[in-house]
Amino acid sequence: MTHNAPQKPATSSRAKPLSGTAPIPGDKSISHRSLMLGGVASGKTVVHGLLEGEDVLNTAAAMRAMGAKIDKMADGTWVCEGVGIGNLKSPAHALEMGNSGTSTRLLAGLIGGHDITATFTGDASLSKRPMGRVITPLSDMGATFEAAEGGKLPMTIYGAAKPKPIYYKLPVVSAQVKSAIMLAGLCGDGVTTVIETIPTRDHTENMLRHFGVTVDVEDLKDGAQAVHLKGGQGLKGADIYVPSDPSSAAFPAVAALIVGGSDILLPRIGMNPRRNAVFVTLGEMGADITFENQRIEAGEPVADLRIKASQTLKGITVPALRVPSMIDEIPILSVAAACTNGTTYLTGLDELRVKESDRLLMMYEGLKACGVDCEMGEASLTIHGHGKPPKGGTTIKTALDHRIAMSFLVLGLASDEPISIDDISPVATSFPNFVSLINGLAHDKVIQ
Ligand code: S3P
Repeated sequence: MTHNAPQKPATSSRAKPLSGTAPIPGDKSISHRSLMLGGVASGKTVVHGLLEGEDVLNTAAAMRAMGAKIDKMADGTWVCEGVGIGNLKSPAHALEMGNSGTSTRLLAGLIGGHDITATFTGDASLSKRPMGRVITPLSDMGATFEAAEGGKLPMTIYGAAKPKPIYYKLPVVSAQVKSAIMLAGLCGDGVTTVIETIPTRDHTENMLRHFGVTVDVEDLKDGAQAVHLKGGQGLKGADIYVPSDPSSAAFPAVAALIVGGSDILLPRIGMNPRRNAVFVTLGEMGADITFENQRIEAGEPVADLRIKASQTLKGITVPALRVPSMIDEIPILSVAAACTNGTTYLTGLDELRVKESDRLLMMYEGLKACGVDCEMGEASLTIHGHGKPPKGGTTIKTALDHRIAMSFLVLGLASDEPISIDDISPVATSFPNFVSLINGLAHDKVIQ
């Protein structure tokens, strides 16, 4: 789906206490990587619990178009028969990436390291997002690009026949850029090194190891890290168990915190420390969240999250260094902050400007329209909570951004008056059953 379809509005209204257990769909980052790595591994990869959202399905279609065999089985697992690293072929048509920045940037890395040519197209949101951040290092590795003005989609990549290893200090804090460089580096000889000043999600590193590849991580000064990867290592197909997505779990979690009397359980949520900072932060605000049954499943930490409504949430100052570990959760965290008592300061938000929408602006304008007392800076958001949810009673523009859409629908569950959004269809990119899951916990059609 490209979201050129007509908009589909939705409205959420005040909910009675949420209760029950809600299984959350699979982790989006891990799902993308499982199909990409499974598609270039030798042998069979079986993926359990893949997120069947539009973004991940776009990755599956692209990998198939480049020769990988990827099928959904009757038991719900997804099986990849990989082509082996170096053996992808040029797709016969442009790769339609829809709304998905992760598909585009990571696949750019994989294609950039192969002697093939591919063109990416995307929806109106993705076509505005910067690709220069991958074009620069992948060009250093020998790939060449044709892109729309400003380094945007549509973009054609002519991959490098023999990618050169590079030593690259990331100019932006981005797991997507780190991963793109690693995936290109995998196809060449020699050691590629990526330096991150603030470490980002490490699912690419973890999953490469799971497929038998050696990845070395070196701790540097002031919390920086160097990731070293020697090219030419083959990947062996593996079984993957995808944890439930902490970024998706954050929506029902905040819903339960702000709707009085709620008590819900979200099982098997991924607790990778580079992903779970939203729950740490909500805890500091006074949220009643317990991490039950903490365990390691197939290499990733998971826990069952029990969340109870917390009437006494308080505003806090969030350390900027923590933002990369909750980069996708800032919109829903802002919703929680709007219902606290006191002021929440969020800084270091520059990357929010270039997500599926300008999330800093969208949250600021949307919260203001709902009656929230807040201020926006270049890379900061200050939210003054007055001890209760805001008035609501407005319609929010969502600009093809799933997380903006879900954030305001969650706020509408607690605000005085209903909140509408102009378009719910992008929610299908990451959380296809969001509405039925929330309505199930509310035992009522509170979103329709
Ligand atoms: C992702 C990395 C993040 C995140 C995105 C998924 C990934 O983007 O916002 O939703 O799977 O690597 P950046 O690394 O560009 O911040």
